[in-house]
Amino acid sequence: MLDYYERRAAEYERIYRRPERQAELRRLETSLGEHFAGRSVLELACGTGWWTPHGAAAARRWLATDLNPGPMEIARAKTMPASVEFRLGDAMAFEHLGDERFDGAFAGCWWSHVERARWAPWLEALHARLQPGARVVFLDNTFVAGRSTPIARVDAHGDSWQLRRLDDGSTHEVLKNYPTHEQALAAVGPRARAPQWLEGEHFWVFSYHLA
Ligand SMILES: C[S@@+](CC[C@H](N)C(=O)[O-])C[C@H]1O[C@@H](n2cnc3c(N)ncnc32)[C@H](O)[C@@H]1O
Repeated sequence: MLDYYERRAAEYERIYRRPERQAELRRLETSLGEHFAGRSVLELACGTGWWTPHGAAAARRWLATDLNPGPMEIARAKTMPASVEFRLGDAMAFEHLGDERFDGAFAGCWWSHVERARWAPWLEALHARLQPGARVVFLDNTFVAGRSTPIARVDAHGDSWQLRRLDDGSTHEVLKNYPTHEQALAAVGPRARAPQWLEGEHFWVFSYHLA
């Protein structure tokens, strides 16, 4: 997965140029920043930073992290709000954060790349890095029959995998899960207050406050 996204960096943002996604993207970009006004936010797997300027528009601080230098280089080259800082870091293990705590967290199109069995422990580890009352927002793809890359196989753990081809001709098997609202709710556990699941045509958004 890491290697796949490193190689895909230059072609990644094509997914955001698909005409049928434009209206929904504009709505999501506008609403994302409203969640995080005045907050200190950790962004996981920021990639090329498509969502970063929108989420960070009114944030006090925004730490955008990704484990791959390639996509992050593209993100760093963009004009960003002054609150944005970039750091290479794992979205699954948070030692790189030291003692830092945040009152917001965001991940765009990352949840789908986490194995189902890891959802709950990953979220618990993330929550441990957040202050009580933190705002948490996940945004990811819905499966659109006929448009989304088909699921090539579902393994014994219920994780689904797609075969994706890059411009360099290489093919990669990539984990891509599509959680239901109920599954996402179960994974975040009882600390999620006022959870809200919004399902659009191409993306879902799951938000809550941490108790
Ligand atoms: C689907 S992209 C999402 C990028 C961006 N958040 C977006 O929504 O456009 C997934 C990103 O996860 C990054 N990634 C893969 N494994 C990672 C890990 N263990 N920790 C942090 N980032 C990782 C890849 O480099 C890639 O940028």
